[in-house]
Amino acid sequence: MTNRIIAPSLLAADYARLGDAVCQMEAAGADWLHYDVMDASFVPTLSFGAGVLKAIRPLTSLPMDVHVMAVHPYKLIDDLMDAGADGITYHIETVEDGPALIERIRARGLRVGVTLNPATPVQRLLPVLDLVDMVLVMTVNPGYGGQKMIPECLDKVQWIRSRCPELDIQVDGGINRDTVAMAYEAGANIIVAGSAVFHAQDPAQEIALLREAGR
Ligand code: DX5
Ligand code: ZN
Repeated sequence: MTNRIIAPSLLAADYARLGDAVCQMEAAGADWLHYDVMDASFVPTLSFGAGVLKAIRPLTSLPMDVHVMAVHPYKLIDDLMDAGADGITYHIETVEDGPALIERIRARGLRVGVTLNPATPVQRLLPVLDLVDMVLVMTVNPGYGGQKMIPECLDKVQWIRSRCPELDIQVDGGINRDTVAMAYEAGANIIVAGSAVFHAQDPAQEIALLREAGR
């Protein structure tokens, strides 16, 4: 059985108080922190990179789950690994030689994840499914927080779960107290939540609620 993990996305934090947000999430019971790297090319927007990760890394012992949304992940991942990432998730749309990239990340002792956009067929994962620690199924088109979940994406979660009973399957985008149970039912076990947690009145309660939903 796979464990449930809640990973608040720092994309939804108040950037003027990013360090406080990291500490607040740890105190609130987060299992991981999700760190979205955007290049204003693969996605329309720009977020933060290795410099900011390095600055916040010493503030928490929580694993830093880095989601790289970039046309050229090769250019970024070494710096992100040096900055203290614990896992790197790359987009299958951006990498020709998946096994080589996976090996490069694993050689540094990090967890490796692969992800795909809502429009990308799930079969594209087949060549790397046995090589990764986690698949992230995007449940929105990446680029922004606060979007509505696209429920059809959960069919991909089911497809992967039926083939890989023990694999970590993460969902990201529009996950909140109303949608999380569907994600668990489909077979996801790692939940990314940005606005749902950061805009909650009580983030600790929201994290607990996301973790226990449907049990
Ligand atoms: C979207 C990012 C997400 C984002 C999720 O491109 O990959 O991690 O922060 O935000 P919510 O949970 O608000 O949809
Ligand atoms: Zn993300």
